[in-house]
Amino acid sequence: MTASTPLLRVEDLTVGLPVAGELRTVLRDVAFEIEEGRTLGLVGESGSGKSMTVRTIARLLPDGAEVSGRVDFDGSAVFDLRAEALRAYRARDVAMIFQDARAYTNPVRRIGDFLTEAMRTNERMPKAAAAQRAVELLDAVGISDPERRMRQYPHELSGGLLQRVMIAAAVAARPRLILADEPTTALDVTTQAEVMAILRRMQREHGMAMLFITHDLELAGAVCDETIVLYAGQVMERQRSTQLHRDPLHPYTAALLQARPEIDRRAVRLPAIPGHPTTAYEAPDGCAFAPRCRFAQDRCRAGVPELLQIGEAGQTRCVRADELRGTLLQPAPGPDAAIAEEVAR
Ligand SMILES: Nc1ncnc2c1ncn2[C@@H]1O[C@H](COP(=O)(O)OP(=O)(O)O)[C@@H](O)[C@H]1O
Ligand code: SF4
Ligand SMILES: [Mg+2]
Repeated sequence: MTASTPLLRVEDLTVGLPVAGELRTVLRDVAFEIEEGRTLGLVGESGSGKSMTVRTIARLLPDGAEVSGRVDFDGSAVFDLRAEALRAYRARDVAMIFQDARAYTNPVRRIGDFLTEAMRTNERMPKAAAAQRAVELLDAVGISDPERRMRQYPHELSGGLLQRVMIAAAVAARPRLILADEPTTALDVTTQAEVMAILRRMQREHGMAMLFITHDLELAGAVCDETIVLYAGQVMERQRSTQLHRDPLHPYTAALLQARPEIDRRAVRLPAIPGHPTTAYEAPDGCAFAPRCRFAQDRCRAGVPELLQIGEAGQTRCVRADELRGTLLQPAPGPDAAIAEEVAR
């Protein structure tokens, strides 16, 4: 492949799932790419289509799903992969880590069997060699006494330890891309930080790219080179993470940033985003965010806004992007603004 071919390229991805005899759109024209070794964040509220994006990339959609667009891995069309090539893609090229580690282990199989199974089938490693490698991997993800852990069952491990086992299993095949779907959401804050640090270290040491999914914009900012904000199955904004936090281009991103609890601002009420998140299927005509957007005007409802390139900064799907640029983080007029001013003094 040429140097300009991204590791993963997702183009115009639209996905519909059958529900009660009709097709419901869950993703609409999703497009992005990930370069070798880089980390891209995918952020959005529940139901925005984050997991469906990952499942489409891994070709793990439910039966009856209708997909258009394309996904290329290292220049090859993932949707064209057949039997053996698809198996190799899932076993070697990409690895997945999920929010609920326990659901992806078999309660009656030991950790050691879970870890060595893929190595033995995919890499035809002899039993002893696979066990040795599994012990090394457990050690690498900071699990002490790995030989003992190999003999234990999933229920004997805490959520944090089990997620470390999942990271070890993901890294075992030396994939080039990790698809991490809210890997720390189910963990307490301290464990979350530990698991994140291990994931990042393994990623760096093995030179893997990562699609990191979270509903936590702050976490994405800390972890990802670039961040994509998804709403109702559509990409609403894409920017370098640091820039996105400083100068968001889309009102939805700004609303998410303003809804974060800020530890050092004691008295300010959180301006929660009014209304409820919508799915792609239920989204109104025009801008999907319009019913919750404090900047909405009639023209926002005229048609689905295009994803626009804003100078060098990034992309946003907002018809008012140019005129609103730089003002989105100013507090809305009203009681919240007055309280914020009060606290600032
Ligand atoms: N198996 C399924 N069949 C039909 N619809 C589904 C299925 N799984 C998820 N959905 C719907 O697809 C949309 C996106 O879901 P998902 O990607 O899981 O969101 P997220 O991960 O961002 O919370 C939601 O509206 C959800 O209800
Ligand atoms: S297009 Fe209009 S409604 Fe949609 S985000 Fe922009 S300002 Fe808000
Ligand atoms: Mg999800």
